[in-house]
Amino acid sequence: MSEEIFKKVVSHAKEYGFVFPGSEIYDGLGAVYDYGQNGVELKNNLRQYWWKAMVQMNENIVGLDAAIFMHPKTWEASGHIAGFSDPMIDNKDSKKRYRADQLLEDKITRYEKDGKTNKAGELQSDLDTAMLENNLSALKNLIEQHEIACPVSGTRNWTDVRQFNLMFSTEMGANAEDSDKIYLRPETAQGIFVNFLNVQKSGRLKIPFGIAQTGKAFRNEIIARQFIMRMREFEQMEMQFFIRPGTQKEWYAKWKEARMNWHKKLGFGEGKYRFHDHVKLAHYADAAVDIEFNYPFGFKELEGIHSRTDFDLKNHQELSGKKLQYFDTDLDETGKAFGNYIPYVIETSVGLDRLFLATLCSCYVEEEVGKEEKKETRVVLKFPAILAPIKVAVLPLVKKDGLPEKARGIIDNLKLDYNCFYEEKDTIGKRYRRQDALGTPFCITVDYDTMNDESVTIRYRDTMKQERISISKIAEILKEEISWNKLLS
Ligand code: GAP
Repeated sequence: MSEEIFKKVVSHAKEYGFVFPGSEIYDGLGAVYDYGQNGVELKNNLRQYWWKAMVQMNENIVGLDAAIFMHPKTWEASGHIAGFSDPMIDNKDSKKRYRADQLLEDKITRYEKDGKTNKAGELQSDLDTAMLENNLSALKNLIEQHEIACPVSGTRNWTDVRQFNLMFSTEMGANAEDSDKIYLRPETAQGIFVNFLNVQKSGRLKIPFGIAQTGKAFRNEIIARQFIMRMREFEQMEMQFFIRPGTQKEWYAKWKEARMNWHKKLGFGEGKYRFHDHVKLAHYADAAVDIEFNYPFGFKELEGIHSRTDFDLKNHQELSGKKLQYFDTDLDETGKAFGNYIPYVIETSVGLDRLFLATLCSCYVEEEVGKEEKKETRVVLKFPAILAPIKVAVLPLVKKDGLPEKARGIIDNLKLDYNCFYEEKDTIGKRYRRQDALGTPFCITVDYDTMNDESVTIRYRDTMKQERISISKIAEILKEEISWNKLLS
């Protein structure tokens, strides 16, 4: 898919009620987006796909919904106050701010596009080293050496590179004097760590076990890009898997494979995914890999899998003074109980908005339909039926003679199980096209024959095939076609 099609996806998302720019009437708010009436349904369905796969299908993984606000010490313990920052640089002429590493990444992409693969490789390795060593002056030198100019002013009049902490802060308390500075969580994971013993004890869970959570996270990203790819308010779906120290390599490999399979089951194409091992490890990890997705603008991170050691629990234990340990009664090979220890953790962390974007880009299809002289392009969102925002549209052919009432009667029988849509405006052809553009897998048309013989036309989105069926068969067909089994079995 080209960048040009990507632009179409973005405008389609707005036109059909999937994603709107945040606070649009005030000219928007940088990197903040709102999900519309169809977007919220798709997002809920993607969340459910994750929740079912993680929590419902695994006996040893349970859910949690921790608060967004957390005690400020949480972020000291987690290392976010000291280390959660990006290297930023300003152009003195345009006054625009950039991420230094991203300016260099963009230069690498340009070298690659121009066939200068040696230069691209050399710069990539210098960039990796500078990032690994947290060497800000080396980043500035690379920007100068490679003659990178500001995309806005076109000049190379740069400030030094500085670290910029990505956490948003606010105050908790009734008045300024006794209020405390607190942070909006930059990841959901810490809510899981601080509740580790609450969940383990109340659920009588035995290691290995996992805690899963979905929810909002906030990062003051220096630059926002590519629609909902990099947002300042976004949603994560994270799972912390608590394990015995020494078993992390084995579990890391298992979760890498499980998560990749989960993505591939969506059917967007096996070649769209790849692993990317981290060279620069986050402050908490001893191994980390991204699952990257081939977006229209190239392969980018969709999910991270991290071996987080005992970093978080150990630091929370130290700072809170509360023991965060597990007593393991299982016996080692010498017959001795493993006893007390701080568990190690494998984390899987996927961005719901990035998954949403991958879904939208993969399912957006433009097709030529119709015969010779009446050829036209139809835009279809070919979502897996279970993920579609609207599952079935019921359309009376005309809005009189009892057809609307009949159609509404059909909806009444289906709406408890499926998200249904009723529409009576426009020709039936136009209504079908509109449902295609929303990704609705099934349309049911009620006509004059329906009034005599209780039959309707069912139209399938992808094949556009139409069949005459009895009203009494609709539920059976939908049950067969719209099922989690297709993704989760
Ligand atoms: N708890 C680990 C963690 O937060 P991360 O790699 O920083 O790791 C995990 O983030 C996932 O969250 C990413 O793979 C991505 O899908 C999503 N994500 C991170 N920053 C984002 C942003 N600014 N906008 C949208 N999604 C983001």
